[in-house]
Amino acid sequence: MSLCVAVAGAGGTVGRHLTALLAADHDVLSLTRSPERAARLGVRGRLVRADFDVRDGLVRALEGADALFVATFDPADPRHDEHLLSAATTAGIRHVVKLSALAVTDPGAQDLVTRWQRECEQLWQGSAMTWTLLRARAFMSNSLSWAGAVRAGEPVPTLYGDAPNACVDPADVAEVAAHALTGTGHSGRVYALTGPRAVSAREQLAQLADLLQRPLKLEDLAAHQALTRWSARYPLPVAQALLESAGRQAAGAKASVTQDVLQVTGRPPTTFETWARRHLSAFR
Ligand SMILES: NC(=O)c1ccc[n+]([C@@H]2O[C@H](COP(=O)([O-])OP(=O)(O)OC[C@H]3O[C@@H](n4cnc5c(N)ncnc54)[C@H](OP(=O)(O)O)[C@@H]3O)[C@@H](O)[C@H]2O)c1
Repeated sequence: MSLCVAVAGAGGTVGRHLTALLAADHDVLSLTRSPERAARLGVRGRLVRADFDVRDGLVRALEGADALFVATFDPADPRHDEHLLSAATTAGIRHVVKLSALAVTDPGAQDLVTRWQRECEQLWQGSAMTWTLLRARAFMSNSLSWAGAVRAGEPVPTLYGDAPNACVDPADVAEVAAHALTGTGHSGRVYALTGPRAVSAREQLAQLADLLQRPLKLEDLAAHQALTRWSARYPLPVAQALLESAGRQAAGAKASVTQDVLQVTGRPPTTFETWARRHLSAFR
């Protein structure tokens, strides 16, 4: 059955893949603050201008949708999920798929980002619509932040380079989301999404070096150096949350793998090597 599916965060890492997967068979409302930028990025579907800050605009943007995918991005602003929930309720949306983070299951994770994700999950679970939660481990695409250094032949600065992380391909997350939005049997389900095995930054860099056929170097950062770098890119509370999160990774908290990508999609999760092959041009 063809549905009308709204994607909030259509220009984001997962949203972009999701609009492409859905557009073949469904009417897709792709919410973005900038349809022009989204079009340049290849976001599919009907590009609808919307800002999570503006609740009334969201009601108009969601009109006619049966289901909604939600990826919000600002841990300092919990109103974004509140606005989306209020607008989705007014628009009569029946089912929501909420992108969250696997750290919410770790009692040791008390950083700002994880506390925000827990609050957002509770918000959607308490709504009148049916819901599915996607708790993702780190995205493999986070390694694209190394691309500038790799292209320039410079060492890649990393904190805890030997710490394992069962990172997941965001395209796999999008595929699970597409099933949860348009298939049956996903209401009230919580999926924990990881890759097929845990890899460290050092292993990821070694795999990239093999594919690029040239040596790549990692520069080990001290915690205070990483915090200084992250503080230049993010507000300080977010940078501190990233530091706490990295500490948990160093303690082994992010190494375990799950079967949920296989269970939902019917195929094994993508390896980092396959992801890297597909994105090699960014590192050349
Ligand atoms: N990165 C990871 O490793 C990871 C792992 C697990 C879970 N997650 C979760 O996944 C989610 C996505 O993170 P990400 O790193 O993938 O984000 P991202 O790709 O950087 O996406 C950012 C997007 O946010 C949209 N956006 C920001 N502010 C907005 C606003 N006020 N109104 C409307 N749209 C707004 C922007 O879309 P436009 O510019 O098109 O409006 C932009 O495309 C977050 O909830 C994160 O906690 C991330």
